Amino acid sequence: MLRDCPFQKLGLIGLIVSVVAMDSSAQPLVINYDEAKVPGYRLSDPLVMSDGRPVHSASAWYGLRRPEILDQMTAQMYGEAPGRPEKMHFSVVSDQTDALGGLARRKEVTIHLKRHETDQGVDLNVLLYLPAKAKEVSPVFLGFNFFGNHSISHDPEITLSDAWMRNDSTKGIREHRATSASRGSNADRWPVQMMLERGYGLATAYYGDIDPDFDDGWQNGVHPMFFRESQRAPEPHQWGSVAAWAWGLSRIMDYLVTDVQVDHDRVAVMGHSRLGKAALWAGANDARFAIVVSNNSGCGGAALSKRAYGETVRRINTSFPHWFCGHFGTYNEREALLPFDQHQLIALIAPRPVYIASAVEDRWADPKGEFLSGLHADPVYRLLGKRGISGLEMPELNRSVGNAIGYHVRDGRHNVLPFDWKCYMDFADRHLR
Ligand code: GCU
Repeated sequence: MLRDCPFQKLGLIGLIVSVVAMDSSAQPLVINYDEAKVPGYRLSDPLVMSDGRPVHSASAWYGLRRPEILDQMTAQMYGEAPGRPEKMHFSVVSDQTDALGGLARRKEVTIHLKRHETDQGVDLNVLLYLPAKAKEVSPVFLGFNFFGNHSISHDPEITLSDAWMRNDSTKGIREHRATSASRGSNADRWPVQMMLERGYGLATAYYGDIDPDFDDGWQNGVHPMFFRESQRAPEPHQWGSVAAWAWGLSRIMDYLVTDVQVDHDRVAVMGHSRLGKAALWAGANDARFAIVVSNNSGCGGAALSKRAYGETVRRINTSFPHWFCGHFGTYNEREALLPFDQHQLIALIAPRPVYIASAVEDRWADPKGEFLSGLHADPVYRLLGKRGISGLEMPELNRSVGNAIGYHVRDGRHNVLPFDWKCYMDFADRHLR
């Protein structure tokens, strides 16, 4: 597929600039925001095998092409993750049936991640709100949060996280720990009341419980738990942090399927930005997620890498050397050599519904590249009997389009707004009910 036909028409209007920055290799790092300077690129066809054989049937997709793409993206980008730890178990820490003024049932559950009985292990603390009045099991949105469970609501009963966090005085985080001022500091991104009133539950956990988000030489989080004796870092084909967060979402799903108040056939996994990358990778690997939602996930998420618009492979690998596997560094400024692109990440989710959301001012995440990933995944949805997304043009601002592949670009910046959530719930209403 060549970028120039027919997608050339898909122009984002706006100020077009190129920004020159530097990275540690001291080579100028050019950040391109000029649509005219997007390099010509060829996307590999999700319905053609690497050896050129076409894929004409669902069985060839599931049996041959899908495993091929999954293997390539695992080995070259996100890295191989282990299975569920043998001695993992859950403790329900609290369960209150009349939380949030009677609107919610609130549970706190600790997932003890352990391989052996004697391991210290890693604890993943999950907060679950369910509609209190639900007569049956409830569908649930699952997503990691950035600042601890206590930050997503002003509910004073939520346990204050004691995990390491990046300092941020605006979020009440000092000396790498949350203070009580951190309670509710991110509540505007989590419209819990609207979710409960619409019949959805919410499961969330702090992503740093799985792997604190800094390049610490792989000493903390879940990675060391899986090292061989004398291993000190993942091998170049083994998981980085994005794959670890995705793995953590699956471990939360392991709990949710045991919770009798949760409809485990109707769990939507959602993530914003780096956590949108993780949500997409979780959805690609774990078919228990009925819906996958990417909010402004950008480079390494929904955005096509080969466009090299906004954040690039080199830039992301330089700023966040711990996010992807070692092999991904091979593609710094050599995106053309990638045997896949992010439309294939979307295709791995097929035929399950996936929603991609962009924000027009979030050029760093390349809204057009996010849209094109959905568009180029559409043939796989069609092969599997679903309408994905039709229409080659990006929609007008603030309009939700598509069928099994949903998309919108809203006005404003990189963020999660009530408008985004409304679109996700409308989408879930359409596909889950
Ligand atoms: C940085 C990073 C992005 C990421 C974002 C976020 O901007 O470059 O790739 O999506 O942080 O997670 O907020």
